[in-house]
Amino acid sequence: MTEEIVKSALSKVMYPGFTKDIVTFGFVKDIVINGNDVSFNVEITSSAPEVAQQITDEATEALKTAGASNVTVNVKAPQMPRESSSHGKNIAPQVKNFLMVSSGKGGVGKSTTSVNIAIALAAQGKKVGLLDADIYGPNIPRMMGVADVKPEVNGNKVLPIKAYGIEMMSMGSLMEEGQSLIWRGAMIMKAIEQFLRDILWSELDVLVIDMPPGTGDAQLTLAQSVPVTAGLTVTTPQSVSLDDSRRSLDMFKKLNIPIAGVIENMSGFIAPDTGVEYDIFGKGTSQPMADEFDTKIIAEIPIEPGIRTGGDEGKPVTFANPTSESAKRFAAAAESIWATIEEINANGGVDNQAVQPTTPPGVSACSTGGASAAPQSSGGGCGCS
Ligand SMILES: Nc1ncnc2c1ncn2[C@@H]1O[C@H](COP(=O)(O)OP(=O)(O)O)[C@@H](O)[C@H]1O
Ligand SMILES: [Mg+2]
Repeated sequence: MTEEIVKSALSKVMYPGFTKDIVTFGFVKDIVINGNDVSFNVEITSSAPEVAQQITDEATEALKTAGASNVTVNVKAPQMPRESSSHGKNIAPQVKNFLMVSSGKGGVGKSTTSVNIAIALAAQGKKVGLLDADIYGPNIPRMMGVADVKPEVNGNKVLPIKAYGIEMMSMGSLMEEGQSLIWRGAMIMKAIEQFLRDILWSELDVLVIDMPPGTGDAQLTLAQSVPVTAGLTVTTPQSVSLDDSRRSLDMFKKLNIPIAGVIENMSGFIAPDTGVEYDIFGKGTSQPMADEFDTKIIAEIPIEPGIRTGGDEGKPVTFANPTSESAKRFAAAAESIWATIEEINANGGVDNQAVQPTTPPGVSACSTGGASAAPQSSGGGCGCS
């Protein structure tokens, strides 16, 4: 037997539910050949025993047909990457770090920020995924220029869509355009879990997660499902936005999520013809709030027509116009976020043990308005409002 023969035999074994084989997916690792005896590992994130069994059976048969005598197949979950030092429950262990992007209200530029920060991190050499967890308003596919792309779906497993050097998944990519959604708490929780468990994310340095606005079931479920490394809050400079952003920062505190900073978006307007900067909604007004939560403003992003057109046309400014002022500020914010993530990991990482549900499985602590998910906090408990 040679490695070539082994790989060629294994390339006939499809990953259950998919039209691609386990070699093409890159799941086959550590092939050891001893005469006609073959052993190897299959690293898959699926924990379903029937998936492991099917792969083992089919791989053994394929290799025996190719002339192998003894075949040993070890199906196992990928190692938790060592760069992450986080603990607790993690239903997407191939992802090293999770960045939760939140805002108090909609329309402040949360999705715009998520997209541009994700692309900036990728441009800085990180392996990045972008999860559009805004189930009610999934705008990321349009902003990423993949509104018409449907992912490879089979059963309930889905491959992320690739664009601008990152992997992306959104409810918008899974449903028909314009379809409206009415979600109840339990459905949101299930959707968030499936986004983490049933999407075949690669081994990622960081998954950027664009949350729905506010503080609710989606935020709590995310924090309970994976150890969220850091949280980012996007706000605009007006007081009415800042009031809501405080709630978002308070939620991070209650869920034990370290804060990576605040992005003040629509902070001034740079006239494209003259380059003169005008205050429209105000500017720098988020500073007292950042101080209050012991964090910092990591970018003031001006209103720039190119940000809006870039979003609408699916050409994010960070990619389409990297020398623009806003792209430079997004890049600096991405560097700051990464430095924070590294520091958090150097100090032992995060642990989501304290926010695990105290309500029965499938029942939302938020929906019931009852039990506290973060026993050490006072008030709302689960961080929902
Ligand atoms: N700094 C900015 N300059 C110009 N337009 C912006 C800026 N930030 C966001 N926008 C536009 O405002 C709208 C709302 O932004 P979006 O990111 O969808 O907000 P959210 O996700 O918070 O609802 C989008 O059309 C987006 O292109
Ligand atoms: Mg949005």
